[in-house]
Amino acid sequence: MRPSLSPALSLFLTFLCAASFSTFAAPDSTISLPRPQLDKGKSLMQALQLRHSTREFSSRPVPLQELANLLWAGCGVNRPETNGRTAPSARNKQEIDLFVALADGFYRYDAKAGALRLVQAGDVRSLTGTQPFVKDAPVEIVLAFDRKRGEGNTKYASADAAYISENLYLYCASEGLATVVRGSVDTAALGAAVHINQTHDIIFAQSVGYPKAEERDPKAK
Ligand SMILES: Cc1cc2nc3c(=O)[nH]c(=O)nc-3n(C[C@H](O)[C@H](O)[C@H](O)COP(=O)(O)O)c2cc1C
Repeated sequence: MRPSLSPALSLFLTFLCAASFSTFAAPDSTISLPRPQLDKGKSLMQALQLRHSTREFSSRPVPLQELANLLWAGCGVNRPETNGRTAPSARNKQEIDLFVALADGFYRYDAKAGALRLVQAGDVRSLTGTQPFVKDAPVEIVLAFDRKRGEGNTKYASADAAYISENLYLYCASEGLATVVRGSVDTAALGAAVHINQTHDIIFAQSVGYPKAEERDPKAK
């Protein structure tokens, strides 16, 4: 007969198990983003000169500071006294939400708080588009229209999302990040998978990472 574990040992093993599982931790429900670094970057004219779409991504992760800068450039708060944003929005409805798909979870960018709020744990990057490179980019940003905030005005929503997308493009151009905005998204499938269909319409997604070229040629960094 196998000896049975003493209650104390069994409690200790349960604790050990729980502790080791916690290293595969569920993602934090909120990620506080560092303040954006406002004193860096190429000149506007240089960034415009460099802006382009890239569809091949390296596996190098995007550091949190870069992500914070990128999201702030997209539609961060640049005038806290009025909650003004880096991107204009029709009637100042600020109805476009940025959702960020990372390897560990799907988050909503809370621009006012400078934080990422967990919507759902798990990696949904491959669901954010129909092109094969989508799974390779470390950051997938989903631009989605909050129907209530935007009072259903989808014409303005597309324009407002496009301003944000261009801000993201320019930040990427300035910092040597690779990016492409993508309309080829199965919006119904993605919206259902991340449970935002009730409130949002997905407009497009934007992949961000480092260019694959730097893996082939490290001097390209
Ligand atoms: C609204 C919109 C949707 C786009 N959708 C896709 C897409 O689904 N897949 C893709 O690879 N590129 C997409 N693009 C990127 C364009 O193909 C790209 O901007 C165009 O070829 C010009 O290249 P450039 O950005 O390097 O100047 C889209 C661009 C826009 C503005």
